[in-house]
Amino acid sequence: MIPRSPTLGLLALSLLYTHLPPAPALSCETCRSSGPTCSGRLKVCEAEKDACVTVVGLSVTGKKKSLDTSKSCIKFKDCYSGFISTTLGQQDHMVSNSHCCQEDGCNQGSIPSPENNSTVNGLHCPSCMAAFHDTCAGEKVVQCVGPETHCIYFSGTVQTGFFTTKFATRGCASKSACHAQVGAEVPSITYTYELRRADCVPAQKPPRRVRKGARSSAS
Ligand SMILES: *[C@@H]1O[C@H](CO)[C@@H](O)[C@H](O)[C@H]1NC(C)=O
Ligand SMILES: *[C@@H]1O[C@H](CO)[C@@H](O)[C@H](O)[C@H]1NC(C)=O
Repeated sequence: MIPRSPTLGLLALSLLYTHLPPAPALSCETCRSSGPTCSGRLKVCEAEKDACVTVVGLSVTGKKKSLDTSKSCIKFKDCYSGFISTTLGQQDHMVSNSHCCQEDGCNQGSIPSPENNSTVNGLHCPSCMAAFHDTCAGEKVVQCVGPETHCIYFSGTVQTGFFTTKFATRGCASKSACHAQVGAEVPSITYTYELRRADCVPAQKPPRRVRKGARSSAS
């Protein structure tokens, strides 16, 4: 008796898959506006974008707060469903809630707005924000708030609709931001970021302040 070869089975399976017609493109609602939701047309996604996403973001810049929503097509592997909190500067806090799905028009309707918890939690991170550069020194320190337990260093390119430029930023983030991978195209409310660097490490407690007068003893 000749046993059936598992390799032949695999070969048959892969031939079957390569001869299947390509999956029809996904359609997603696409829109962008201020407020806790937005509505727009259903758009056929580019072939490689196999998911729909809704992002509701609350950004707090100094005293200015704005709540905005965007809906678009995205690669499923780049999509994170859930809550992300970031503080990239003392005056620059942002929280977002996102939802990813993979059915035609599945991002119609609305999702809950993100919670903003701006209570400092005792952790800190180097902070900086640079446009037109893909590194930044992080000489300033920012205090982390709410669920932000990690320090991020993200850089890459940012697409602002008409042009693409470099960016780099460091600051505090919730652990959920560590989901971002190098190569990912991450939609925010107004821009699309492509990450070349996506470092994420646990945040530290600040060192104890050295009291004045105690520092000169060694010199
Ligand atoms: C954010 O938090 C502040 C107080 O910490 C509160 O007054 C404000 O209503 C909150 N904003 C939203 C949109 O939840
Ligand atoms: C806000 O964040 C602080 C610090 O992490 C935490 O102790 C507190 O429970 C949070 N509040 C809410 C309402 O989640």
